[in-house]
Amino acid sequence: NFVYFLKGLSFIAERIKEKFECEDVLIIPGNSDRDETVKKQLGREAASYLRSCLKNGDVIAVTGGTTMAQVPKGMPNLTGYEDVVVVPARGGLGERVELQANTIAAELAGRLGAQYRLLYVPDNLGPEAMESIVNEPGIKEVIALIRRADIVVHGIGGAEEMARRRGLSESEIRRILENGAVAEAFGFYFDHEGRIVYSTTSAGLSVKDLKNIRKVIAIAGGSGKAPAIRAFLKYHRPTILITDEGAAKKLLEIE
Ligand code: G3H
Repeated sequence: NFVYFLKGLSFIAERIKEKFECEDVLIIPGNSDRDETVKKQLGREAASYLRSCLKNGDVIAVTGGTTMAQVPKGMPNLTGYEDVVVVPARGGLGERVELQANTIAAELAGRLGAQYRLLYVPDNLGPEAMESIVNEPGIKEVIALIRRADIVVHGIGGAEEMARRRGLSESEIRRILENGAVAEAFGFYFDHEGRIVYSTTSAGLSVKDLKNIRKVIAIAGGSGKAPAIRAFLKYHRPTILITDEGAAKKLLEIE
């Protein structure tokens, strides 16, 4: 749209900030749906924002996904964060190993010279198995650490894509979509109005805990993700949304 072209990305960022009441919105030029280097740039921006608000002693919780996988890659090797602990926000959600929160947590800790703790709880366990695993002392301790995270860095995905990628059954996928799900974050699925319509059984952080966290950094781009980003922003106002031009323009169009 010509007005946006003239007024630039900071104008668009201001509009999104106002509409969704985010504290901050950062927009990378381009569209990560068409250009992989834009996703790398999203990761670098998230890494640099994370550094700007990180204090020694903080606990950082991270989620998984292809966008989040770019965050450690965009972080330089640092020192001085020996007392920072990086943890996955939740247990396994069924992603490929290189996209799992555990992997990203360990890589990020490596870059920061920080510590990490991992959570090995498979997703979608039955209630009894879940109950007994989360009460194991070692696991309980990691979950407690996750729950007291100071900073969360997370991705947002489209509901159908994420449900398929995480290997949910056809009948579950149908049920999620029939309930109007358009977005997924932290294993929770949201409809257009930002209502939770489904959640995967997994241990760790719940989206309900986000309001108690000092900094919530949401990172998601690509024009195709605009409906998902919009839905998630209706549920929770992150401290900062780091997105790209493709998603940002679409976000204002559909609003
Ligand atoms: O929960 C959201 C997903 O992890 C986003 O995954 O960055 O690969 O689209 P993605």
